[in-house]
Amino acid sequence: MAEMVKKPVKITETVLRDAHQSLIATRMTTEQMLPIIDKMDKVGYHAVECWGGATFDASLRFLKEDPWDRLRKLREGFKNTKLQMLFRGQNILGYRPYADDVVEYFVQKSIANGIDIIRIFDCLNDLRNLQTAVTATVREREQSGKGHAQIALSYTLGDAYTLDYWKDTAKRIEDMGADSICIKDMAGLLVPYEATRLVEALKDGTNLPIELHTHYTSGVGGMTYLKAVEAGVDIIDTAMSPFAMGTSQPATEVLVETFKGTEYDTGLDQKLLGEIADYFRPIQEECLANGLLNPKVMGVNIKTLMYQVPGGMLSNLVSQLKEQGASDKYYDVLAEVPRVRKDFGEPPLVTPSSQIVGTQAVLNVLMGERYKMITKESKALLKGEYGQTVKPMNPEVQKKALGDEEPITCRPADLIEPELHKLEAEMAQWKEQDEDVLSYALFPQVATDFFKYRAAQKNKVDPTKADTENAAYPV
Ligand code: CO
Repeated sequence: MAEMVKKPVKITETVLRDAHQSLIATRMTTEQMLPIIDKMDKVGYHAVECWGGATFDASLRFLKEDPWDRLRKLREGFKNTKLQMLFRGQNILGYRPYADDVVEYFVQKSIANGIDIIRIFDCLNDLRNLQTAVTATVREREQSGKGHAQIALSYTLGDAYTLDYWKDTAKRIEDMGADSICIKDMAGLLVPYEATRLVEALKDGTNLPIELHTHYTSGVGGMTYLKAVEAGVDIIDTAMSPFAMGTSQPATEVLVETFKGTEYDTGLDQKLLGEIADYFRPIQEECLANGLLNPKVMGVNIKTLMYQVPGGMLSNLVSQLKEQGASDKYYDVLAEVPRVRKDFGEPPLVTPSSQIVGTQAVLNVLMGERYKMITKESKALLKGEYGQTVKPMNPEVQKKALGDEEPITCRPADLIEPELHKLEAEMAQWKEQDEDVLSYALFPQVATDFFKYRAAQKNKVDPTKADTENAAYPV
């Protein structure tokens, strides 16, 4: 019998980032993570995704933790495993485009504090919005020997998104100097046999390693990984079983078992994985008990395929409508989402385009007239300030939003003046480490509140009684 040629599939573990972002609103604390990382470091994961996305915002806003401090602690514990982060292109980890100097500084500091792989995506798949972050990562590697630039394609459906479109985009990504490509299927829209076609098309367009990231939301995730691996995908993203499935990723242990004894065998040790799952299970049970984990998000939601809306966006819509006392308008809003998306040039729905389209759809329904009110962000998107969409926008809607203003066609960041010095000046009184200016750049109000809290903790005073005007504290 001919010897089997081994092509072990690699695993990126998401339990410390996307899994808890998708299931428990990113509320896992550093303290909950640290006791298990020594064991996780022995698994032999390709990488552990642990930073970026909403982790930064949630740490500062809700957990009162410094995200930079978390990163340094994880780096200290993970001695052998690559750490990965998610990066929103020119929007960094925020909701608006930033000047190049801020993007470059963020890349530099992320790597300096312990990140190995930066997964960079753009909500419009406008590659111009990725170039600065990619170039900064490559430069960092040349200088420090650390840093891998992965570009993620925001996967979506629509007329424009043909196999040729994806293949051509992959080729352009390779030309940009990226080290690998990820298919980022944030809504779980990639069905198994389409995964075969997509991976084959990408492999045809590029020699770069290809990683697949999906969510279990629609229930097909495990099968999609199986077909993708058979078609030659190199790396898949999975989550330890207590925080897997539902709106999170397929389970790590399940995929490891699936490929055992085949040419794709991951070689990971199920006994060790079992011990790690044992650690996370009580945390899951605690989240179920305190309501942080809603059993609703753990099931299969086939509507995500019908409406093509990511799980996180669905739950945002539900809470926006509830706040307005208009929960009965849920299905009207769901039907309005694809119409707004079309008017806006059919962008993928991922942060921040998902929030922009979702909020506008809610307004269109609640106001009883479409585009009676247009948000600042919708206007910016229609103006081209987030970049270029794959399809043209609806000219009538664009005109209504912009009036006499001309849309822009250049790379949006070309119009943004360097802003690091200005930001430094604004937050100087709070600065305790270089990285603080970056926290402030992303979330000025939330970071300032955190800085006050941090200072108050140090001085052991009540932050609500602090005299912030004069930066003086009653002791
Ligand atoms: Co994800």
